[in-house]
Amino acid sequence: TEPLKLGIAGLGTVGAGLVRLLEAHGARLAAALSRPIRIVAVSARSRGKGRGCDIHEFRWFDDPVALATDPDIDVFVELMGGDEGVPKEAVEAALKAGKHVVTANKALLAKHGVALAALAESNGVALNFEAAVAGGIPVIKSLRESLLPNSIERIYGILNGTCNYILTTMEEEGRSFADVLKEAQEKGYAEADPTFDIGGFDTAHKLSLLTSLAFGTEVAFDQIHVEGIEKITQADIESADDLGYRIKLLGVAMRTASGIEARVHPTMVPKHSAIAEVSGVTNCVAIDGDFTGSMLLVGAGAGAHPTAAAVASDIIDIARGLVIAPFIVSTRDLKPHQRARLGEH
Ligand code: HSE
Repeated sequence: TEPLKLGIAGLGTVGAGLVRLLEAHGARLAAALSRPIRIVAVSARSRGKGRGCDIHEFRWFDDPVALATDPDIDVFVELMGGDEGVPKEAVEAALKAGKHVVTANKALLAKHGVALAALAESNGVALNFEAAVAGGIPVIKSLRESLLPNSIERIYGILNGTCNYILTTMEEEGRSFADVLKEAQEKGYAEADPTFDIGGFDTAHKLSLLTSLAFGTEVAFDQIHVEGIEKITQADIESADDLGYRIKLLGVAMRTASGIEARVHPTMVPKHSAIAEVSGVTNCVAIDGDFTGSMLLVGAGAGAHPTAAAVASDIIDIARGLVIAPFIVSTRDLKPHQRARLGEH
């Protein structure tokens, strides 16, 4: 069988993790899928940097947009990050050239997801983004596949590993905010600009994706109320503790009588609740569905290996020939036949 050929743009924490994952599990996956997955080309900011993985066998591109449209690739894997400029151009170019796209770029999708989804659909290719939300937790697949029979009433959780790591380490070890943030950056959890983490924006990007999937409607990122954890002090954590609570940064979206409400802010949760037990870089997502009932998914929310595994799971779907519409979007954005599919006229 012809291999599924990948072009990877971005060899930071996640990109290098993906190269290592395919080195470790490529042969087993090829057997399981009856089709090898092969990296053929890469692009990154710097060619020589030590990454703990060998890239010399791959064709090198200085320009990610040229990589995205290279005739030799089937799948463009975008792991650069950033909501405008080159990452956006490269993803658009890939979709227009009929390449499947796999991305971990939540900021890009929160801003341009609906337009990119339409582009993917009109070109008959996949736009997969399991790694964009909650690292290794398969929440995108859950919403797009297993939970699709439900009407989702509410979805919420801890969606930023860096913030949860800061809050739990401040509580458990009594260390300062700045000190723990620095450690989260060193471990590769934080965004390139950590303001996205601690300001709550990364959580809001992820929440807007979950909201689009859960409620079938676009929730613009700027409609979400966002408050981060920058102002949380050791004294706040101790007062919450005295009252029997822990402070968690939550993203919450639910159906209300007046529409979908979505918000991100530090929240006091009772110490005995399952969500209070979620510590360190771990994320969790609680989903209330009308038929399935309530569930809580818990797992690693950031870091090279869990995130790379999520990227690989998207590539595996493509190798299997599975192409699902990226979002069910607001009916006003749909063509009449698509509205009919959603049962609205
Ligand atoms: N900076 C993000 C986090 C990475 O800390 O959760 C995973 O999206």
